[in-house]
Parts: sequence; structure tokens; C-alpha cells
Amino acid sequence: MIQGFSKLSQEEKIDVLLKKFNLPSSIKEVLNSHLHKELQEVYNQFSENTISNFYLPYGIAPNFIINEKEYAIPMAIEESSVVAAASKAAKFWSKHGGFRTHVISTTKVGQLFFTTDWKLNALQECLPALEIALKESVYDLTQNMSRRGGGIVGMVVNQETDVDDRFFSLQISFETADSMGANFINSCLERMGAQLCTILKAKDKNKQVEITMAILSNYTPDCIVECTLSCPIDSLKAYSGDYSPQEFAHRFQQAVLLAQHNISRAVTHNKGIMNGVDAVVLATGNDYRAIEAGAHAYAAKSGKYSSLTQIKIEDEVFTYTLTLPMALGTVGGLTKVHPLAKLSLALLANPSAPELMQIIAAAGMANNFSALAALVTSGIQKGHMKMHLSNILFTFNASDDEKEKAENYFISRTVSHSAVKQFLESERQENQKK
Ligand code: MEV
Repeated sequence: MIQGFSKLSQEEKIDVLLKKFNLPSSIKEVLNSHLHKELQEVYNQFSENTISNFYLPYGIAPNFIINEKEYAIPMAIEESSVVAAASKAAKFWSKHGGFRTHVISTTKVGQLFFTTDWKLNALQECLPALEIALKESVYDLTQNMSRRGGGIVGMVVNQETDVDDRFFSLQISFETADSMGANFINSCLERMGAQLCTILKAKDKNKQVEITMAILSNYTPDCIVECTLSCPIDSLKAYSGDYSPQEFAHRFQQAVLLAQHNISRAVTHNKGIMNGVDAVVLATGNDYRAIEAGAHAYAAKSGKYSSLTQIKIEDEVFTYTLTLPMALGTVGGLTKVHPLAKLSLALLANPSAPELMQIIAAAGMANNFSALAALVTSGIQKGHMKMHLSNILFTFNASDDEKEKAENYFISRTVSHSAVKQFLESERQENQKK
């Protein structure tokens, strides 16, 4: 056990780790070389026990036309091909009507769980009066939010009989304007929990009431954005490779139907959407775990996990739609305190939360479109391997000339670490002989 680790300075923390786990002192240099010269204090305050920073590439996918407005979308992601795939789809669709998006709803939910001797119908009867009293109890917290168009918009009481007949939930709906609202919702819930106990006990002092917990829900089926791509099938020529655009559209449709019905495929299909979504969520300082959890739960809302996209091919027109829950913010949280999150929002011209929902849906759609288009034509490895080759060449310090030769050599050959190593070794031997 390491005692009092959190109380140690950054340097002391590293020294303790090196000593305890018998690590080489070179680790200290690597950790220190990743510290930020001016902003380390800012980064330290985001988390605990910080000993360095963990870098991710920060890239831009340009040429997104979303509802006729142009965006260059910032993406923070370590996986090669994601930014390239998003950029490729963005460029293509910019010439074919762009991404059509709209926000369907923005309501989020908080849950208060409690045990009581009260019966469900009696609680339901009291609910209108309870709602007024509970709202009043958080007036100081909601006042500001109300001015921005948010606040508490509804309450439903349920009996959680699967847990216990005495177990209930009060499901409270919130509008949180441009903030994700996690702190706001949780603060309101905790205050309302205490007030709920007081009110119910005052109504009947013989009935016991106890709050079990209060927390927002990351399941947000009423905070939804939709993104649609549509063009005449003939326009898909740029993507159809060796197939005709009609064959391509048909193969694409089958891939989507497969993702709707085959769970193993649906998860991978949706993961491809989340490649684009998470990268922008992260770059804008939002909570990607919340978005991930909400998206996958939504994908299973029918009781069976399925694709988040729908396809229609009618009258030679290809129409592809993504429907995605997305609880995020453009104020509060990390959005204005993380220097790059703030910058990302500035690059997007400081969007409102609903506008950011639409931008992120378009990024998810772009990645999914590119992935499926590649999968049903040349396969995914062709594009991936190009990036893989460039990563391997980088690890061998390949010169520009070696890179060019390797790219030509591997056009029709399988890329692997050992094959690239062998290629470079023989190139370098040849050069020595010259
Ligand atoms: C890889 O990160 C994403 C894909 O697997 C998505 C998909 O299969 O649709 C290529």
C-alpha cells in the first residue's frame, strides 16, 4: 500500500512509484517531458494524482456542410483513418446536398430513488402538489437556468417492484439550455430528495420515507438528434469502386440491414459511428462516457440491440439517416476551462448545445458512411493499411525517399511490421552498396 499518495508533490509521486515498483529512472524524464510549461496547473486541476499529461492527436476534418453552413470539425482521436474517413465523406457530401440535421428533443432525466410505506396510487395523487413544492425547494438553483430557457419540465413516480414493493423512483425531466447539466441536475435532485422526505413525513408521520440515491440518468431517449444524407444513386459513383452506383447502393443497404438484425455486426457498425462522435465530444470537452453509454442503450431501446442508422432506397434516391441521443453542453464543465476544448468551440464559432449536437451527429454519420462504403467495396484494410504503413515507417525513421518507395512497393502487398522491416533493410543494404 502507498500511504498518503495524494498529498505528495508531482515529483514525490513519481519517486515513490519508481522506488516501489523498481522502475527505471528514465520514466521520470518521459513523464516530465509531457508536462506543459505554462498550463500544467490548469491541467492538474481537472483530475487527481496527476503526474503528467497524456497526449492524443488533435486533427481537423474540413469541408463539412451541415444545413448549408460550413464547418471544419476538430477531432481528438488516436485511431488512424478516422479523421481521414470523416474528411473524405464531408468533401463528397458537400457536393451532394451536405448533412441535413435537426434536433428532435433536448430533455434530460434525473432519478430520485426512495423507499416508503406510501402506496403508488397515493403518491400519484399527491404528485401535482409535490411537483410544485419540490420545484419551489430548488428555486434558487433553477432561477438562472429558467432565464436561459431551462428548468424542471416534468415528474413521474414509478414503483420499482423488481427491487421491492416499497421501492419507488421519481423520474424528473429537465431542460438544461446550453449546459450538459450534470451538476445542475444532481444538485437539484439531492435538494429535492431531502424535501420529498420532509413533505411526505409531514403528510403522514406514521409512514416511513428514506432516500436511497439521487442521480441524473445517462439514458437520454428524449435528447435526440437526427442526421440525414440523401442523393440520387448515380451520384454515388465516387464511392462505388468496381461496382455500379446501383450495385454499391444495394450492397450498402444490405450492410445496414445486417446491422439492424445481427447484434455482433450492429455493435461494430455503431462503434464506427462513435469513432466520429467521440472524437468531437472529446475535442469539445464533453463527457464521451456519457454519450457512449446513452448511445448504446438507445440502440437497444426495442429490447434488441440494433443499428443507429436507417436506410431507404426509393426512386433511385439513396437516403441514409442516423438517430442519436446526445446529452452535451457548450457551457460549463471542461468546455471553457480546457484550453483546447475552448479552442474547439471557437473553431466551430461557439455553437449552442443543439448546434453542437448536430455537428457531432454529422461527424458520426461521416465516419459510418465512409466505413460502410469501404467495407462493401474494397474492404477496410486498404485505407487502414496505408496509415498502418506510415506508422511503421515512422517507427523505423524512414527517410522521405524510403517512404515513397515503400508506399509504391506495398500498393499490392500485405503490410506487416516484419514485411516493412525487411523491405527497409534490403533498401538500406542496396544503398550502402552504391
Ligand atoms: C473501426 O474503428 C470501425 C469499423 O469497424 C466500423 C464498421 O465496421 O462499420 C470499420
